[in-house]
Amino acid sequence: MSFQIAIDGPSASGKTEVAKKLSEILNITAIDTGAIYRAFTLFCLKENVDINDNDSVIALIPKVEVNLSKDKVYLNGEDVSLCIRSNEVSIATSIVAKICEVREFVSSIQRKIANSTNVVMQGRDITSVVLPNAQIKIFLTASIEVRAKRRFLEMQAKGQNDTYEEVLENLKIRDKNDITRDVSPLVKTEDSVEIDSSDLTVDQVVKIILDIVYEKGLV
Ligand code: DC
Repeated sequence: MSFQIAIDGPSASGKTEVAKKLSEILNITAIDTGAIYRAFTLFCLKENVDINDNDSVIALIPKVEVNLSKDKVYLNGEDVSLCIRSNEVSIATSIVAKICEVREFVSSIQRKIANSTNVVMQGRDITSVVLPNAQIKIFLTASIEVRAKRRFLEMQAKGQNDTYEEVLENLKIRDKNDITRDVSPLVKTEDSVEIDSSDLTVDQVVKIILDIVYEKGLV
């Protein structure tokens, strides 16, 4: 039986790592939907369009092809896996992701993948809009201080020099953009199981979700 695991939650709540581990254990495809929004936004920045000008951004949609393969993200054939993670792209993405036409474009890519295979898909509107019929829905969260610390350590390990305060401020702006936007804001749906990962390891979160998968007899 084919099935879908949908995970939503704010930035740096651990969604990517959790989805990756689940995909390895269950041998299903993991889709990082934020990466698609990021790749599209990177294209807008490269083309020097004003990202606050919706018409200019929308005009770029037909020029963009985003492909995901394992851990890699390709923008029009170019591997952009690393550069889509910069602070500049992070903030810009939360602005571009407010545009309805962009969301429709990205959602169509996501649904195409989900219709062809078992998936664990994570983002902001997966439980509410993209896969409302997913068998398992998770709202993964953590306190903003814990999320900022995790992101800060991750960035340090990659040699990026942002301070903890800058990372915290960046997360606050992105949370606000994600939660308050008109189209498909980040919400916890009534049928989602909430997991607060502030004091949990990735493996502990994965175990909670796996228990639900087994309980429901999905594998
Ligand atoms: O998960 P992430 O931090 O890589 O996401 C980057 C941005 O994309 C984030 O600000 C919210 C947006 N996004 C979205 O609006 N809907 C999704 N399904 C995934 C991400």
